[in-house]
Amino acid sequence: MTARSSLTIVLAAGEGTRMRSSLPKVLHPVAGQSLLAHVLGAAPNGAGAALAVVVGPERRAVEDETRRLRPDALTYVQCERLGTAHAVLAAREAIARGADDLLVAFGDTPLISAATFERMRAPLKNGAALAVLGFQAEDPTGYGRLLVEGGRLVAIHEQADASSAERAIKLCNAGVMAFDGRRALEIIEKIGNGNSKGEYYLTDAVAVVRDLGLEAVVIETSEDEVRGINTKAQLAEAEAVMQARLRKAALDAGVTLIAPDTVYLAADTSFGNDVTIEPFVVIGPGVSIADGAVIHSFSHIVQASIGKNASVGPYARLRPGTSLGDGARIGNFVETKAATLEAGVKVNHLSYIGDAHVGANANIGAGTITCNYDGFGKHKTEIGKGAFVGTNSSLVAPVKIGNGAYIGSGSVITKDVPDDALAVERSPQTIREGGAARYRELKTKGKTPKA
Ligand code: UD1
Ligand code: MG
Repeated sequence: MTARSSLTIVLAAGEGTRMRSSLPKVLHPVAGQSLLAHVLGAAPNGAGAALAVVVGPERRAVEDETRRLRPDALTYVQCERLGTAHAVLAAREAIARGADDLLVAFGDTPLISAATFERMRAPLKNGAALAVLGFQAEDPTGYGRLLVEGGRLVAIHEQADASSAERAIKLCNAGVMAFDGRRALEIIEKIGNGNSKGEYYLTDAVAVVRDLGLEAVVIETSEDEVRGINTKAQLAEAEAVMQARLRKAALDAGVTLIAPDTVYLAADTSFGNDVTIEPFVVIGPGVSIADGAVIHSFSHIVQASIGKNASVGPYARLRPGTSLGDGARIGNFVETKAATLEAGVKVNHLSYIGDAHVGANANIGAGTITCNYDGFGKHKTEIGKGAFVGTNSSLVAPVKIGNGAYIGSGSVITKDVPDDALAVERSPQTIREGGAARYRELKTKGKTPKA
């Protein structure tokens, strides 16, 4: 049997005014990814799975994010907010292409899973015209109530249009719907706007399906999966649910989290075997951590790859473009950015390594700084394998330190250093025998010592 084709329409024309932010609502992040990215990540993908996103007039940034995530996606603009059914019809052209299954989801429900999308499609195979995702709401206020009669879903009544008996129903509409793609357009076009808000409600598709003598069913899920985000408080709640999921998945995958609740992960964090993460670590997007690596407390890591058995922190900051080879060691108060540190490199204390390449087994002493920025542009520092950079050195980029070269402590290196050379840049040291004693004597007598 050939797989059924699908079209998923994600409604992302939200105003987001209750977020009190200039950022469109669906671009707010949860676990390092936009709300939209989570939904698109769960939506069917691959061969035969088309995607359309309906955006509002503030569309530019939302369109850009859509294209970044799914270059194959179609986008449509809903200029006037006349309701969820009206929004779906903005993508009429895509629906008319006639996929087997039409799925509709909201861009502000980031906790939805791929498995749920697939579960919604199953009843369509068995002849249902519509499947609606439902959940038992702890507090159903504001949600559409699912009216079920004799085991059949017959209607959805929105809060404002529900009778007081219907308002007591806790089985609510989560917002995700799956239509038989061949009937979808006919069903949605029949939806009117004769409700208290004068909007075209997608939820009225259920009554249309019933009137056509077709079947609508409910697929139930947990409330956690369908939380919609309208406010910053709901955004924080969704973050908490997502973090709990990610920590559990990491633990299940064998990652040692000593205090899981204090570790923040991103949705795309990848782990090898036997990774240990100490308490109070923040991991942003684009991080991979290979087998046996240890991340010590209070480290902050974004867009970085960490090699096998590497050690990071405590108090390390790995910024985007950091790549640590196997067994590399990054110690306390070290910051890296756009830097490749090959296997066995040590940067153990108080350093900034940016726009740099550091060869295998080089040792970077405490307080070493790559001076990568001259106020106008960024420049690269190259440090050869096995090089030794003495403490408190400034490497003024662009500059190359050769393989096996040795930099004396406190040097300001502005010229390239050949392989195996020793470079020292400092004033000669002077010694004045008995000078300290003379100094103390003068000071005790209240006199001013000469320089
Ligand atoms: C909707 C459902 C309700 C359900 C609830 C679940 C309808 C009529 N009601 O109510 O049954 O319980 O979600 O969270 O569908 N949108 C547009 N264009 C519009 C209107 C909405 O794109 O003209 C988008 C919004 O950006 C949002 C989604 O559709 O992503 C839902 O709209 P919203 O106004 O949040 O609907 P609710 O009142 O929450
Ligand atoms: Mg809503």
